Amino acid sequence: DWTPDSFVEETVQDLKDQLKDDKVVLGLSGGVDSSVAAMLLHKAIGKNLYCIFVNNGLLRKNEYQSVLDQYQGMGLNVKGVDASARFLDALAGESDPEKKRKAIGRVFIEVFDDEAHQIEDVKWLAQGTIYPDVIESVSATGGPSATIKSHHNVGGLPDFMKLKIVEPLKALFKDEVRRVGASMHMDKALLGRHPFPGPGLAIRILGDITPEKVRILQEVDAVFIDNLKKWNLYDSVWQAGAILLPVNSVGVMGDERTYEKCVALRAVESTDGMTADWVNLPYDFLQKTSNEIINKVKGVNRVVYDISSKPPATIEWE
Ligand code: XMP
Repeated sequence: DWTPDSFVEETVQDLKDQLKDDKVVLGLSGGVDSSVAAMLLHKAIGKNLYCIFVNNGLLRKNEYQSVLDQYQGMGLNVKGVDASARFLDALAGESDPEKKRKAIGRVFIEVFDDEAHQIEDVKWLAQGTIYPDVIESVSATGGPSATIKSHHNVGGLPDFMKLKIVEPLKALFKDEVRRVGASMHMDKALLGRHPFPGPGLAIRILGDITPEKVRILQEVDAVFIDNLKKWNLYDSVWQAGAILLPVNSVGVMGDERTYEKCVALRAVESTDGMTADWVNLPYDFLQKTSNEIINKVKGVNRVVYDISSKPPATIEWE
């Protein structure tokens, strides 16, 4: 019988047997999967696990520092690398969703590789890949339903990194990953975090990306997410976020006509991200959140709510 406790016990033992005294490098994303994978490896090999947490400049507001602090508090051997400028440079002027993903994937690999080279004699690359990641990237490689989206964090090992791959969560679904984390007494807020895409806010800013757009979206997203928490709605939603549309619309403030940005809010229920329904958030909540966003975030004068389910819409807009 599968239980989180027995999974932890067996996996930690298997990792010890497999990795012995080898060094392992792992990219932490701040998400549940890579964090739980790191904790299992930490239990198995301790300081031989070298974690790297890259700031791509496209994370949520204040997330880089707070997540890095949290990882350090968990005793992980983690190095934070702020590569925001490198990512934003690579994205400048690019509007095509897949090209944005590829640019981010490429820079991530460059940054990660630079860091990995600094770990003497590292033998393994650990990844927090879970079962649905495996399925979606397999189905994206062939067949009529091909080319969904290039999920850059799956299987993309460049030739020059001659590392063996270890993926302790490969057979698990998200809810099982959370249960495994809980059985290792990991922080509830960390385990309950919504999934967040590797390319981050880049695929929630439709069109090209500028530091100003990133700032606007971070502010909007923070209001939305904080309110979901305040209203006790966060845990009943599988994933939520805001999208900055490449649309200006006319508004009015005092006696002045404005011509400013429009944002969409999205919240979905799902079990694995493969299908999803939009969440029927209370009108009161939407009203207060919309007012707060428009009042607080300079440059935004209109908020809409996305009522599309997957399929045929995807969760992300790009
Ligand atoms: P879609 O938009 O395809 O998203 O319905 C399904 C789930 O996958 C996440 N997602 C990504 N995650 N890299 C990632 O690591 C990506 O390029 C990517 N695209 C989508 C999305 O946030 C949702 O949870």
